[in-house]
Amino acid sequence: MSKNNNEISTIMRNTRCLIFTFFLLVTFSCARESKTVVTSPDGKIKVEAGIEDGKPFYKIEKGNKTIIEKSFLGFILKGNDAFNKDFGIESIESGSFSEKWNQPWGEEITVDNTYNEMTFHLAEKSGLKRKLILVFRVFNDGIGFRYEFPTQPNLNDFIIADETTEFALVGNPLTWSIPTNHTNYFEHLYKKAPVTSLDTVSTPLTMEVNDSLYLTIHEANLTDYAGLNLTPKQGSSTLKADLTPWSTGEKVFAKTPFKSPWRTVILANSPGGLMLSRIMLNLNEPSKISDTSWIQGGRYIGIWWGMHMGAYTWAQGPKHGATTANTIRYIDFAAKHGFQGVLVEGWNYGWDGDWSANGDQFNFTKAYPDFDIRMIADYAAKKKIKIIGHNETGGATKNYESQMDSAFAMYSKLGINCVKTGYVNPLLDHKEQHASQYGVRHYRKVIETAARYKIMIDNHEPMMPTGLQRTYPNLMSQEGVRGQEYDAWSPDGGNPPDHTTIIPFTRGLAGPMDFTPGTYKFENPAMPATHVHTTLAKQLALAVVLFSPVQMASDMIENYEGNPAFEFTTSCPTNWAKTVIPAAVIGDYLIVARKDRKSDNWFVGSITDENARKLSLPLTFLDKNTKYSARIFKDGRQANYKTNPYPLDIEVLEVTSGSTLQLNLAPGGGSAIIITKI
Ligand code: NOJ
Repeated sequence: MSKNNNEISTIMRNTRCLIFTFFLLVTFSCARESKTVVTSPDGKIKVEAGIEDGKPFYKIEKGNKTIIEKSFLGFILKGNDAFNKDFGIESIESGSFSEKWNQPWGEEITVDNTYNEMTFHLAEKSGLKRKLILVFRVFNDGIGFRYEFPTQPNLNDFIIADETTEFALVGNPLTWSIPTNHTNYFEHLYKKAPVTSLDTVSTPLTMEVNDSLYLTIHEANLTDYAGLNLTPKQGSSTLKADLTPWSTGEKVFAKTPFKSPWRTVILANSPGGLMLSRIMLNLNEPSKISDTSWIQGGRYIGIWWGMHMGAYTWAQGPKHGATTANTIRYIDFAAKHGFQGVLVEGWNYGWDGDWSANGDQFNFTKAYPDFDIRMIADYAAKKKIKIIGHNETGGATKNYESQMDSAFAMYSKLGINCVKTGYVNPLLDHKEQHASQYGVRHYRKVIETAARYKIMIDNHEPMMPTGLQRTYPNLMSQEGVRGQEYDAWSPDGGNPPDHTTIIPFTRGLAGPMDFTPGTYKFENPAMPATHVHTTLAKQLALAVVLFSPVQMASDMIENYEGNPAFEFTTSCPTNWAKTVIPAAVIGDYLIVARKDRKSDNWFVGSITDENARKLSLPLTFLDKNTKYSARIFKDGRQANYKTNPYPLDIEVLEVTSGSTLQLNLAPGGGSAIIITKI
């Protein structure tokens, strides 16, 4: 949504340095077992993989400590057909790879993709003698492995009834998890519990192995497959893959040649290390969009919070939010204060009545009579504001797919190049789960169709992200998280203060989160028991802490006018040259520092849970021998998320890379800092 095109084309001209070298493997064999070892480029992570009694397995060590014990791999195909035993190794290949690639948008510009790889070609020793390939990539910050089903005489069309991949954890690590509840779009509070006590949970699943080892299991490049969940085997600490099924019970319909998504294990010495891992992106294919100059994120406002507070309606009527006059008011406000976009929800036919149950009534090209879409699009263009279109589907994917081309063509003509999609219904087309292969296929179709029309997507009620934004950088952000909207209407009162100190290490590792921080007025007269559980300073800090290249300032515009905090909201970028994590304890507190892509400015967000904290912030990430001015938006006297959330002080200090700031965070509080070169 922002205006600078040159920056992106420069990024796409990045230099690539690809090295494929022979990598030495060490193979051990005995009658029962044949295994090979591959290490990470820095030698610290070691993966052993091979066959034991015909069953494929792997094992992970870090620094000579076993992290994942012998874990078995494979599938059960339809008809109780075991495809996880009786294998022999036909050949093993190895290699190393290193490149640096640049992102059109992200938490930093350049991503290092360096790994050692080991590929096993397996074949059943008897019967159909079917083949299976296992590929392991070992990075300095973790591993990825995937299955490949090559073209072969005895395996053509096949159905996966179960994936039997295991992660046999050592001991009983503490995890932060959400249950696999197929009706709630991953919108849960994370629970801290030992792995053996888990039921079926979604990934990313993050755990603390000890205070210097953190681990996250997830998947990368989910393509034409089913979403991954994990279940402990009989209450043990061995987790087993549990794929989201079709309504008929099958997991995946496939045809050779076929590749599974990558199963990923991030390993880091600190929680901050998890946040800085780019395994998720590196295990996706390079961009399929060669000219990304049109893909520009930014901060937007929206005719949105008003609906969630009950002040406006999506449907037609006296409180209809998406009127021409109201939209013009939002466009004027956005232009005056330097926002890049305005989201408008409830502009099109389909909202009257029970829209979630009747998603097939949505019309994506026909505006309500009080919303003059052409006039609005022209006005926004004149004011250099991007309108963000809204396509709530009520989960009716067939209805959406039948209109997608004509809708995107119309938006593109009108200059609307970003669309927020939504799937509010427990099931897609009243039948299939969002994270099933059915859902995965639909979401991919939307991203690919949108790319053809040069439209960016912000997807709500998604499947869990898996790093696909590397391949399709028009996939900007997704929900799949319990966002700020719960603070407007959730019957449980809203998100507790520790929620945002957990999600950067769980859901956030999967990809950008459209959490929508930036609410300034915390009470909802329509639901007095529900409100925002932060201080005002923490709302500002969340804009830095929670990464999203399109990020909303969530409140109604009348609540921003005249508030000194607004200076931070309107200055904070959404696209970063660099990210560092000076301090983090999952569930307690977190400091994130990010450097703007378009200037030398740094932005720092610090947040705490319900406890007040004093945090030290050494500014070692700043350039040496340079004077900076730090503008600190901090919790004011006696600020407290429960009783007194609004006091905010602004302090200005001269600092250098040798300075250490002492931050006093109120209960449920935070601080947000703009650091500029003097
Ligand atoms: C749920 C989404 O999360 C929210 O942002 C949107 O306003 C409503 N659905 C309506 O589409």
